[in-house]
Amino acid sequence: MKRLSRPLLAAVTLGLLVLPGTAAQAQDKVLNIYSARHYQTDERLYGDFTEQTGIQINRIEGKDDALIERLRSEGVNSPADILITVDAGRLWRAEQAGLFQPVESEVLKQRLPDSLRQPEGKWFGFSMRARVIFVNPELVPDPPTTYEALADPRYKGLVCMRSSSAIYNLSLLASMIEHDGKDKALAWAEGVVANFARPPQGGDITQIEAVADGECGITIANTYYYVRLLRSDDPAISGAARKVKLVWPNQEGRGVHVNVSGAGVVVNAPHRANAIRFLEYLAGDSAQKYFANGNNEYPVVKGISANPELEALGDPKIDPVNVSVYGENQPLAQMLYDQAGWK
Ligand SMILES: [Fe+2]
Repeated sequence: MKRLSRPLLAAVTLGLLVLPGTAAQAQDKVLNIYSARHYQTDERLYGDFTEQTGIQINRIEGKDDALIERLRSEGVNSPADILITVDAGRLWRAEQAGLFQPVESEVLKQRLPDSLRQPEGKWFGFSMRARVIFVNPELVPDPPTTYEALADPRYKGLVCMRSSSAIYNLSLLASMIEHDGKDKALAWAEGVVANFARPPQGGDITQIEAVADGECGITIANTYYYVRLLRSDDPAISGAARKVKLVWPNQEGRGVHVNVSGAGVVVNAPHRANAIRFLEYLAGDSAQKYFANGNNEYPVVKGISANPELEALGDPKIDPVNVSVYGENQPLAQMLYDQAGWK
């Protein structure tokens, strides 16, 4: 995701955030959001909420882990009501740091799939992305059809991956630990490392571009990066993306690995009722579209369609495991990656 520069973040902090101070102001028509998102569609998202409820939104935008750090250091004095961030693995980090409080909401329970929310209501997934295989068909005429197959020696010298500390890769291996067990997960990481075309470098976009360029033949990346490239106004970029073939992994088995963008109510939220109202609003039909579309993600509420480019990628079978597992297995996943020598 794109991030605000430090000076801009500081300006937002100084200019927009009205520090609410004490819980005595809990009845205020105010909601303070710390968000790792900033898309144009989000303006409509927030504007519509204010229009519907009269609740004014103050936002601080920043990098995912920096926002979590900030909440930790602010502690009980934090003005934050809501934290919005990406990846269940990162939502889990915030949960582990004690930054969320449980929320009981029939609306959220009914609208959001069980597998995409934390079982105790500490955070909820509001949009979904899949982590899929991309191949260069000229270099790889027989693409892998499962994540596990990326470790097959026949793909030696063909695989490009980003670093193992990237939260998306931690969550992926965490899910493989869940499904395949620790030993197979380690063997997989070792096998993929043995197939590397180059040492891990760059983000998901870098990997897709390297596959398009033929620098490598296979990678794994999130769907929204691919759709972002496909939708680019620059024909060189969209053309390169079209050379890359998407493979939905594990369709004969558990299904494709998915993750969420999500949010929860902060533990000492000064405006708790407003915060819950906002989460319920995010589960509404129109908000679902804005929230998902901002980053070419899938809405999570049944019956709401994704944007046409995303829909055109197909209708995959999805791994039904609860995404909170990615957090629980995260420390072990990092250990196995380190053991496998996946930088
Ligand atoms: Fe991302």
